[in-house]
Amino acid sequence: MRMSRKMEHVRHALEIGQDGRTGLADIKLVHNCLPGASTDSIALTTRIGDLIMSSPIFINAMTGGAQETEAINRELAVIAREKGMAMAVGSQMSAIKNSEVASSYRIVRKVNPSGIVFANLGSEATVEQTERAVEMIEANALQIHLNVMQELIMPEGDRDFRRMLDRIAAIVDRLNVPVIVKEVGFGIMAEGAAKLKSVGVPVVDVGGSGGTNFAAIENARRDIPLDWLNDWGHSTSCALIESVSVYGRGQVLASGGIQTSLDVIRALSLGAAAAGMAGAFLRVLMQDGTEAAMKRADELHDGLRIIMTALGAHTIADLWTVPLVIGGETAAWCAARGIN
Ligand code: FNR
Repeated sequence: MRMSRKMEHVRHALEIGQDGRTGLADIKLVHNCLPGASTDSIALTTRIGDLIMSSPIFINAMTGGAQETEAINRELAVIAREKGMAMAVGSQMSAIKNSEVASSYRIVRKVNPSGIVFANLGSEATVEQTERAVEMIEANALQIHLNVMQELIMPEGDRDFRRMLDRIAAIVDRLNVPVIVKEVGFGIMAEGAAKLKSVGVPVVDVGGSGGTNFAAIENARRDIPLDWLNDWGHSTSCALIESVSVYGRGQVLASGGIQTSLDVIRALSLGAAAAGMAGAFLRVLMQDGTEAAMKRADELHDGLRIIMTALGAHTIADLWTVPLVIGGETAAWCAARGIN
């Protein structure tokens, strides 16, 4: 039997890995020799709109919708619950179309009854479908993913991208939970962010390149690959700087290739409220198991406390004002785009 598309995504994401070209290495944090902080005075709490999160790291959308993915969602939910992280499920469209697979998403709420959970659908969804997705897992917010290039490379993908913004506007207007619009690795840039802001989207997750590469994943599934599209999109550092220039600090989430505590801190210092990790959690979970993934979360949180202490940043909001120098391709990009 053919492997489900959902499991193919998991398999290819693990095989292809993350290329690490997030641009975040271009962000140099200025060392503070007199930080005036202690590790136990550091607060990792952050907020997305009215949602208070005890960690600035969340597990980003990955899976659900096929039998084999239920176990992955269950274990991710255990990690999210035990380590106080918010968590998104993968696109729920399969369960909207076929209620038999809804349990692969519902498991997340069952395992983590009081945690922060994000529902997930694409911008093709109707208002009614988004209401059902939120209800399915009693979600605290809805992610709407934008993945135009992925769809175009996918042989069975969408080809018509008209009226996306109109549908997003209607969803934002009618849904009774916050809407987060996210990219899946090609980056939300200033023009797109401005359009999303103009229809009332409260928060965007920039989903830049440098991590899981959905052009490469879909090409691996094609008989005749369009490999020349594998470098499409913009790095997480550039997408973050552009989206923050439109939305302001604290209204933007960072994702795309986030793997280490230093990646998280660099993203937060550019103005992100929190940082999402998908591929990195998937890898440690699938290769080393749930305990190892929980240990990884502890290491990440300890790393954040170490760096925040060294910088004298007691809170996530303090990170938005630490001195930093932007070099390399990220600086060249910002100069070319007139963003400072
Ligand atoms: C994803 N991602 C994703 N995003 C989304 O909004 N809906 C989805 O259904 C999926 N599915 C999915 C499956 C798998 C196996 C992976 C690894 C990822 C994209 C994900 O949320 C994120 O935007 C990108 O993976 C970039 O982040 P990382 O992986 O580099 O941390």
